[in-house]
Amino acid sequence: MGIWIDTDMGFDDIAAIMVAAHAGLGIDGISLTFGNAPLEQVRRNAASAASAFVWPFPIYAGREAPVLGQLETATGILGAAGMPSAGLMLPQVPDELEGGAFEALCAWLEQNEGEEEPERRIMALGPLTNIAAVALARPDLGRRITELTWMGGSVTAGNHTASAEFNAFADPEALGIVLAHGIPLKMIDLDLCRQVLCAPEDVAPIRVAGGRNAELLADLLTGFIDIAIRRGRPAMSLYDAVAVVALAYPDTVTWQEARIDVELAGGLTRGRTVVETRAARGAFNAAFGAQIDAARARNIIMETLRAEATW
Ligand code: BDR
Ligand code: CA
Repeated sequence: MGIWIDTDMGFDDIAAIMVAAHAGLGIDGISLTFGNAPLEQVRRNAASAASAFVWPFPIYAGREAPVLGQLETATGILGAAGMPSAGLMLPQVPDELEGGAFEALCAWLEQNEGEEEPERRIMALGPLTNIAAVALARPDLGRRITELTWMGGSVTAGNHTASAEFNAFADPEALGIVLAHGIPLKMIDLDLCRQVLCAPEDVAPIRVAGGRNAELLADLLTGFIDIAIRRGRPAMSLYDAVAVVALAYPDTVTWQEARIDVELAGGLTRGRTVVETRAARGAFNAAFGAQIDAARARNIIMETLRAEATW
């Protein structure tokens, strides 16, 4: 079996899907969630990316709102498309995507029942709403997930709020449900992702690659890096792409076991991931990436983008 990807389809999500495909992980299906933008826009982004980059994977639209509370998106930072650009935007195509992410994910988890249970690995790149929906309605299928690698959370401080990383903040109850159901979680948090940075000088090799999407990828990468530049930082992490490197090349990462919980109540700290590494303070229920071979991870990501630009 290949992997399943759950995503809110911003630019780092697109780069992540490219890294997964180039690493030969085999993508069996993609489910969409709200996040970087409302679901309607996420669907448009997915349909456009699938067309521009000739993706063969089936894509299904999923949840448009969190388990509880109000819809939160990142359009305040990323713009209405959930994806800034320094020029070209994804070409618009009609959104003919199917709905039914819940049913498709359940069907994928039901496959190959038998004595030789296959690995069922999910890569989640946004709020965990779709995964929580399966765990709640079909706990028997939730238990079949052998590994959930998730870009989200933060061991230290947040990005969307001072306390919380965006994917955790946008649906903290979903993360709580995933943890409560004992789904084996590998968290790739903000701190790990920020060990791997892309800078403005990384754009030129993509722009000169000469393929039909070279200019498009160069403009989108420039727009994404500009988010950091505008805030006085010299470089930006392609968060979701780093998380896929951790899944596809686990030897790049030093994993640490931990007790991970999520704050649901705090007025200032809602969505904060609380990471306890002292074994005496509670049974470990997850692992997080503590250290990554940043040079290797960066090379994998940039080589992937260059290959896509050359194609
Ligand atoms: C995460 O939030 C989203 O905006 C990005 O795509 C990434 O998954 C970073 O906090
Ligand atoms: Ca994402």
